[in-house]
Amino acid sequence: MNDKQRTANEPSRITTPWIADAPRPITCLTAYDYTMAALLDRAGIDIILVGDSLASIVQGKATTLPVTMDHMTYHCACVAAGVNRALVVGDMPFLSYQVSPHDAVRNAGRLVQEGGVGAVKLEGGAVVADAIQAIVRAEIPVMGHVGLTPQSVHRMGGYRVQGKGISGDKNLRSRTGQQIVDDAIAVEKAGAFCIVVEGVPAELGSEITEALTIPTIGIGAGNGCRGQILVTHDMLGLSTREIPKFVKPFGAVGDAVVQSVQAYISEVHSHQFPGQEHSYTKADSSRRLPYDVI
Ligand code: KIV
Repeated sequence: MNDKQRTANEPSRITTPWIADAPRPITCLTAYDYTMAALLDRAGIDIILVGDSLASIVQGKATTLPVTMDHMTYHCACVAAGVNRALVVGDMPFLSYQVSPHDAVRNAGRLVQEGGVGAVKLEGGAVVADAIQAIVRAEIPVMGHVGLTPQSVHRMGGYRVQGKGISGDKNLRSRTGQQIVDDAIAVEKAGAFCIVVEGVPAELGSEITEALTIPTIGIGAGNGCRGQILVTHDMLGLSTREIPKFVKPFGAVGDAVVQSVQAYISEVHSHQFPGQEHSYTKADSSRRLPYDVI
C-alpha cells in the first residue's frame, strides 16, 4: 500500500485497539518467515498470523499437533523482523495453554518477549476462558478461535465443517451451532479482542458475528464476518497440498516458481546463464554487494 492509498482513517501501525473497533473489514493472512512477512506488510495487510499451520506448510506434517513452543517462537521472531505496520499474532501451539493458566501466561509471554508478537491466538471456547483471562491479565492481547479448531482433530475425527452437531451426541465430531455461539461469547467475555471463526456454515458465521461486539475473522465461515483470514500459501497458489472449498486462489505462484526454476535449469544446461550482464569484470573488484552491511 502506498501513501496515497492510505486514507486519513488508516493507521500507520495496526494495534489491537484499532482491530477491536476496525471501521472496515479486517484483512489477515499467515506468514512463517521474514521475506513473506515483509511482502504481506508491503501489500498493506492488517494482521499477520504466525499460524501453527506452519506444521503443514513449513514442516510437511499432517496435523498441527507436533508444533512446539520453540518452533513458534523461532518463526514469530522471523516474521516480526519483516513487519513495520501489520499486527503480528503468534499462535499458541498444542499443550502450551491447555494444561494450566500459569503455563498459558508463561508461553504467551515467551511469544511476546522472544518472538516479538503483539498478540497471541489460542483455540477453544468456554474451556479455555480461564487461560484467556490469565493471559489478558498479563496485558497480552488474545485472539480467540472457535468452530473447526485443528488442534481438536482427534476429538472431531478429522477436519470437518462444524456446527451441525446434535445436542446430546456427547459433543464429539461436531459441536452444535448454539455451542459454537456460546463458545464465542465465552471467549469475548474472557477478554479476547477478536476471534477467528473457522469451518462453519455461512449463516452460523453471521450469527456468531451478530452475537459478539468483538470482530469475527472468518476462514471458511462465509461473508458475514468482520474480517477474513486465509493461509497465504493456499491463496497464492503456492501450496502443494489440496485446497479446500473456501480458498480462492488469488495467484498461481507455485506454477511461477516451477516455470522459473525450469528456465534456470535450462539456461545453466545450455551455458546461457550467467551471461556477461550477470558476471563481474576486473573493474568490479572490491565492488560492494547490495546487501553489504559492514
Ligand atoms: O494456524 C493457522 O494458520 C490458523 C489460521 C488458518 C486461522 O489458525
